[in-house]
Amino acid sequence: VVLVVDFGAQYAQLIARRVREARVYSEIVPSTTPVAEMLAKKPKAIILSGGPSSVYEEGAPRLDRELFEAGVPVFGMCYGFQLMATTLGGTVDNTGAREYGRTPLYVSHSGSTLFEGTPAEQSVWMSHGDACSAAPEGFAVTASTDVVPVAAFENDEKRLYGVQHHPEVMHSTYGQQVLEHFLYRGAGIQPNWTTGNVIEEQVAAIREQVGDKRAICGLSGGVDSAVAAALVQKAIGSQLTCVYVDHGLMRKGETEQVEKDFVAATGVQLKVVDAQDRFLKALAGVSDPEEKRKIIGREFIRVFEQAQAEIVAEARSGEDVAFLVQGTLYPDVVESGGGAGTANIKSHHNVGGLPEDLEFELVEPLRKLFKDEVRMVGQELGLPEEIVQRQPFPGPGLGIRIVGEVTRDRLDLLREADAIAREELTAAGLDRDIWQCPVVLLADVRSVGVQGDGRTYGHPIVLRPVSSEDAMTADWTRMPYDVLARISTRITNEVADVNRVVLDVTSKPPGTIEWE
Ligand code: XMP
Repeated sequence: VVLVVDFGAQYAQLIARRVREARVYSEIVPSTTPVAEMLAKKPKAIILSGGPSSVYEEGAPRLDRELFEAGVPVFGMCYGFQLMATTLGGTVDNTGAREYGRTPLYVSHSGSTLFEGTPAEQSVWMSHGDACSAAPEGFAVTASTDVVPVAAFENDEKRLYGVQHHPEVMHSTYGQQVLEHFLYRGAGIQPNWTTGNVIEEQVAAIREQVGDKRAICGLSGGVDSAVAAALVQKAIGSQLTCVYVDHGLMRKGETEQVEKDFVAATGVQLKVVDAQDRFLKALAGVSDPEEKRKIIGREFIRVFEQAQAEIVAEARSGEDVAFLVQGTLYPDVVESGGGAGTANIKSHHNVGGLPEDLEFELVEPLRKLFKDEVRMVGQELGLPEEIVQRQPFPGPGLGIRIVGEVTRDRLDLLREADAIAREELTAAGLDRDIWQCPVVLLADVRSVGVQGDGRTYGHPIVLRPVSSEDAMTADWTRMPYDVLARISTRITNEVADVNRVVLDVTSKPPGTIEWE
């Protein structure tokens, strides 16, 4: 494993992903982890991330010198670089000269392990206030910028390396190469982390964890739960039962995809609960977005628990069904503190004859993976492309894409409009460029139009195509006009009661991606 020490910015996850792109397994540890604990993981290399602090601030994260003396190769980036410099006796000044954004870097040392084969002048991404003016003893200075005399250094003998810039971001043109040079040449690591390994490893781990007991998995139609279920199915076969709650708020064809294609690809035992009427009834008369979300969430849990209880009741004994499969991803694990170990969740139910509450142990086979890796695993497991490449879709589904009360007719109408938009986006080859494109029905708004010879008084449909890295921030996608025109023409022609299509040109913030 390669450890990425997180100094509290958003960079650590990106670094960990880049390391894995170099086919080397990586994990993130908080910078407060004692050095002895880091070394106990027997890392093949350690990378120190950037961070928002200045090495001079009181309370800024530090590192024990021991880390650099353990014989483990270390690569410091940005804050990690400055920390390495000061810890080992170099000089970092608060010069007041800030560098932010794309910066030319002058590579000056020909025998450099990190920069070999890259140009003498290259564009890198900088984000710092302090600057290193003297490298620690025994280090060769390998790069500078217009304002920073020491922008990279290395000590090949001790296998310690550092750069002031952020090689992990796309804007550092040779960043991935520099990172790979560190991993392969500096640290001597063989690149052999592949999704094939992940599958083998997880199948073995799941078999070991579950033994001869049974497991339940809720399928949402999304990528994560589908891949998690497929992995567990591969490991324990008929000991797994999947539950799919059809709440009637899915898009066109999605329920069928789960019912037919997913089952065909995996052979999983699937229990489909048709709860459409129940959800519609619970949502009747409700327009407030938060209230809708709460109702959908509540009903979902009730229906799912009921299904769980039925599965438990059908099993040999209550204790037999001991595991609940979840599609938790690595970013969720890191963001919630990153602790190892298995959490227990309680599932309350109310079926006579069974214990008051059942405890399930969680099976989370995707806990170590990033989203793109999950998609690769799904692909390798033979899941349908439509599921593996699916764009994010909110749990409450179309229920929060109808502004106003949710009714069956409105859902049908929105499903049609959404299907047209998706079809045209796919046909235009835009699926990978667009993060997601909510299609929203303004059910409480009407406007006047003219169609054929007559006046119409219909509803508008909003298109909300956004580009994003992680859904935390987003920008509206500058889509080709001809694609927008086709979508607009088709929706107004083919969907009854819709006489206007509008484009949402708001970034996030201030707008969220969904309208509710
Ligand atoms: P917002 O609207 O907050 O959405 O900008 C950010 C991302 O989250 C998705 N989203 C949800 N996903 N359950 C989910 O599983 C939800 O309740 C939910 N609400 C929003 C949204 O589609 C976008 O990708």
